[in-house]
This record gives sequence, structure tokens and C-alpha cells, in this order.
Amino acid sequence: MTNTLKTPAKQTASADRFDLVLSGGICVLPSPHDPDLFERAEVEIAVRDGRIVAIGTGFVAKADQVFDAKGLHVLPGLIDTQVHFREPGLEHKEDLETGTRGAILGGITGVFEMPNTKPPTTTAEALADKLQRASTKSWSEYAFYVGATPDNATTLTELERQPGCCGVKIFMGSSTGTLLVSEDEHIHRVLQNGRRRVAVHAEDEERLRERRELLGTQPSVSQHPLWRDDETAIRATRRLLALAHKVRRPIHVLHVTTAEEMDLFRKNKDIDVTVEVLPQHLTLSAPDCYERLGTYAQMNPPIRDARHREALWRAVQDGTVTLLGSDHAPHTREEKQKPYPESPSGMTGVQTMVPVMLDHVAQGRLSLERMVELLARNPARAFRIQRKGEIRVGNDADFTVVDLRARRTITDSWIASRCGWTPFDGMTVTGWPCATIIRGQLVMQDDQTLGTPQGQPFAFEL
Ligand code: DOR
Repeated sequence: MTNTLKTPAKQTASADRFDLVLSGGICVLPSPHDPDLFERAEVEIAVRDGRIVAIGTGFVAKADQVFDAKGLHVLPGLIDTQVHFREPGLEHKEDLETGTRGAILGGITGVFEMPNTKPPTTTAEALADKLQRASTKSWSEYAFYVGATPDNATTLTELERQPGCCGVKIFMGSSTGTLLVSEDEHIHRVLQNGRRRVAVHAEDEERLRERRELLGTQPSVSQHPLWRDDETAIRATRRLLALAHKVRRPIHVLHVTTAEEMDLFRKNKDIDVTVEVLPQHLTLSAPDCYERLGTYAQMNPPIRDARHREALWRAVQDGTVTLLGSDHAPHTREEKQKPYPESPSGMTGVQTMVPVMLDHVAQGRLSLERMVELLARNPARAFRIQRKGEIRVGNDADFTVVDLRARRTITDSWIASRCGWTPFDGMTVTGWPCATIIRGQLVMQDDQTLGTPQGQPFAFEL
């Protein structure tokens, strides 16, 4: 361990002391000249009562604790806006404690959790139950989506305004769980109820049903992107954009996988659409992933061929993509080893997103600043999260501290998720999250959690 938290010997209690000062690191800060840009600066960050109170130099003498970030980069706390933590009902795969532990070990300071639990999060009672559970178990900050159904549309205006709710989620095509709103009429009604950004899993249910028979009598997982083909995703996204146009409702298209959907977003700049891609779709490709990983590579929407993967990278680089999520979707090894297509779709990701993306930074595929935009600033802006997303005086003191030079191998044994595996097992990366700080508390350092779960719900501007 090279960087430590130091408690200076002499302490004088005084109102101008700081609880914590981060010093010696290169910080990624908003540019004072242009709020859309970043700059890197070797400055100290002073923290009091969980908030950033000063950015500058000369604070160390007044610090009760000093985090020595020499040789490291200090980023705003990175946020994962798509995880499935399975509690309640499916705790044999994951729960809120194990899921959020994986988050902080991977340098993630907060998560948005998905509604396809058991029961699904479709009522005020189910949302309150999740918030109650998270209040004692969550290592990271959190918020929960409520799931839309064909029947609960008129309750959504009220539900999406509940504290701790990050918005409404629509599954247009069926995936894990029972949530489904596949008909235009019903999607339209959901979009008409409420004002906040609606997150959508865009796969066309009718086409999924039609194409299921293509799997034949001896299905193989390498047919997954043939069954759930690119047209299945494109068709759903086209329908969704047409509805969003009509209703003028902000939408968030989750885990986009095709070149053609990216072109649709480029042509629809007059509506408020935010776009998510996943590290899995940027890193793996068919057919190789299915040959190497079998059903462990199975997810919805599927990992596709290199043409689509390269198009996703172009969209990351030209600004079409708004943010990155992990779609952390754990299933046990026993479940994943069932013969395809009985094997469930989904893979872990919350703990590996930061190292995998730092490796892409090291390979020159995106800049560190663009990564910070995709994982901190844009999630906070798109979902109107209060006091997060940037290292700025007044914001919460959430930081992801990374070592850009560390070379490490991702292994199953590092994974905190109850299911205990990652599709990136064996991948050597350059770049590693070495500390996670939330509201001024050091909660992870050098692969160890510190303290007890103290995560709080995100607050939103409504
Ligand atoms: O692969 C997936 N797994 N895609 C989804 O949409 C759901 C997720 C899960 O919950 O398992």
C-alpha cells in the first residue's frame, strides 16, 4: 500500500479545520473557462461535513485527516445507472449488500437499481420496501427505478416523484423477470404519465416471438444474436423515438448495441434522448465471446459482431453516447450452465466497469476526461442528481481515486457478487480503482472495504 490516510499528530479543534484533505493527486475538475470541458490540475481538495468546501492549495496543515493521492488521479465519484441487485426475492444471486460492496470495490460511488426483482418494483409499497432494505445495507449511494406495466401507468406520475426513485423503466421486450410493456398504445400511456426521463430496454417483443423458432431443435448460444437480432433492437428504438416525439417526454435508451440505432439518434437531435452503452458491448464481440465463454456471454440485448462494436466506439467518440452503465445482472454458475436458451441472460459488471474502461483509456480509445463525463457528469446531469457528478465546491465529497499505471488481472476471486464470476476473468488491464470515498468517508482502499455500509439515497431535482 503506497497511499495512506494520515491523521496528523497535533490537532486543534477549530471551525476552519477540515475533516479530510486529498492532496498530491491529479484531479479531474470542471474547467473554469467552459462548463462542458474538464481540466487536470494538481490541487488539494478540502472536505468538511461530507461536502467539498475548498479546492486549492495549503489545506494540509488544517486537516484532521489527509489522503495522500501522490501518483494517482482523483475523479468525481463514478456512478452506475444500471444494475440489477436482485433483492427482494432473488437473493441467491445477489443482494443489496453484496451488490453495493462490489460497486465500491470497483470504484463506483452510487448505483441506480432496476425493478425486475420479485416482486417487481411497480408499487409504492415495493419501492418503500427496497428503500428500507437499502438504508442499512448499502455501501454506496443508491436510487431505485419503478417498473412500468400496462396497468400501473396512471400511478407513475406519483411514483416517480418519491424520494429515492430515479425514474421509470420500461421493458419493451421480455428479458429476465415478468416486466413487459410491448404495445405502442401502452408505451404511449406510460410516457404520458409523469415528466422525468424514462429508461427503456428497446427490443421488439413481436419480432422476438416470431424469431424464437429460428433456434431449431438443437439451439446453441452462438445463435443468441441471431434470435435477438439487430433489427429487433432497431425496430423497437424506432418505435420508441416516434412515441417520444409525439409525447415530448425525455427518454433514456439503455444498452444500445447497433450501428443503425446510433444513426437514428444522430437524426433525432430535436428530442431529449440520452443513450447508454455498456463495457461488455464495447469490449467483447461475436462470434468469439460465445466460443470462449458460452452462455456466460449471453445477455439481452446480445453481444454482436465487430461491425457493431466499432460503431459503438464511434458513437462514444462523436458524442452520440451520453453515459455508460454496467447492466450488472448476476446469475449463479448453476443457472448459467443450463443448456441454452434455458440459461438466463446477464452477466456481472458493476465491479469491473471502471478497470475495463480505464484499460480502454490506456489503449487510447477514449480520454480519461470523456470517461469521467460518461460515468459522472452525464449521469448526474441526465437524471438531475443533486450535488454529484463533478468535483466542485458545495458538491458531496464523492471520489473515485485511480492508478492509471497499475497493471492488474481481473479474476473471479476478486468479484464480491454472490454469483462469484465475471466475463472478464483473466483479462489484464492497465488502470485500477484504488480508493472509493463517499461523502468524505474512505470506504474502499487497496481492494478492501472499510467501515460499515453507510450509503444514502441520491437526491434529485424534480
Ligand atoms: O441480459 C440481461 N439481463 N438483460 C436484461 O435486460 C435483464 C438482465 C437481468 O436482469 O438478468
